[in-house]
Amino acid sequence: MPLRKEQLLNQRIVKELPYYACWFVRCKLLGERRPLQSVIFITDRCNLKCKHCNVVREGPYVSTMTYDEVREHLQFSYDAGSRIVDFEGGEPLLWRDRVHGADINTLVELAREVGFFSTTVTTNAQQPINVNSDLVWISIDGLESEHDYQRGVGTFAKALHHISEATHPNMNVNMTVTAHNWRDFAQVAKLVKDHPKLKRMSFSFYVPYGDRALVVPPAVRAKITATANLLKRVGYPIMNSKTGIKLLRNPKSFAHYRACWISNFVESDGTRIMHCPGQDAGVCDECGFGMGPEMALLFRLHPEMVLSGLRVRG
Ligand SMILES: C[S@@+](CC[C@H](N)C(=O)[O-])C[C@H]1O[C@@H](n2cnc3c(N)ncnc32)[C@H](O)[C@@H]1O
Ligand code: SF4
Repeated sequence: MPLRKEQLLNQRIVKELPYYACWFVRCKLLGERRPLQSVIFITDRCNLKCKHCNVVREGPYVSTMTYDEVREHLQFSYDAGSRIVDFEGGEPLLWRDRVHGADINTLVELAREVGFFSTTVTTNAQQPINVNSDLVWISIDGLESEHDYQRGVGTFAKALHHISEATHPNMNVNMTVTAHNWRDFAQVAKLVKDHPKLKRMSFSFYVPYGDRALVVPPAVRAKITATANLLKRVGYPIMNSKTGIKLLRNPKSFAHYRACWISNFVESDGTRIMHCPGQDAGVCDECGFGMGPEMALLFRLHPEMVLSGLRVRG
């Protein structure tokens, strides 16, 4: 189960802060490149086929890790330095290993046993959100018509239903802004602000691995980032930091201090990558991942980013 508030505070002071300080010294002063966060794609199987998705494959090419494989990748990532793990897919809630009688919650417990400080699961919320991770990201890509356009008819209502039924104390929304759904940005922020079960939202811009028609034009990117900072100023729970949002407006603006090696990635076929896969795909100059600027700021010890990084866990 996620830790209670006092347990979390205790763990932070005794274990986490000294670890992060040591990590910073090793990486900043000694030039080591150790990840802090791992993104593990436990399957590329999914129950949706979203227009913007660069992960999901179909047919005989679908790959899913076994429990033992996930354990190996967790241990590898932990040994490399990582202490935060995000279980991704495909749809992580579909993952099972029948031999071990394991599901996503078994993997979250396993990650804690290995020693990870924090666990997150990202889901499309098309089934009940019975997840025991410290944090849950739920993808909402617009109000009903835009979300359903991007993700399939009926998916918005189903996601909202499962959010209202869930009891997890740290549920957050992630919106992927595209050239199609950007007009809904402020309304999604309002939905999150007004929803009693949702804590915060983060946002990214579509990263052009595929369909270029979804790429957000620079003028719209400027508009959305300005809106996000305005909403943040008046109390909307947007998790991206103010400076991170400004940088996200133009991904070339922080090219000289990107730190995308702070996350390592394991793909569902077992491929390990010690930096963002976008680098190999050559999409950095058009990158929209909200985490990109945040990692760059973290490595500069930007106070707002460090605080919001700590706050997001509870
Ligand atoms: C790949 S999905 C996996 C988890 C789950 N199936 C879901 O949809 O939340 C994780 C997140 O990546 C986002 N995503 C997928 N393709 C993307 C792209 N090309 N650019 C930016 N974000 C993307 C999704 O919108 C989602 O919020
Ligand atoms: S639900 Fe998630 S993994 Fe599935 S297609 Fe959509 S974005 Fe991709």
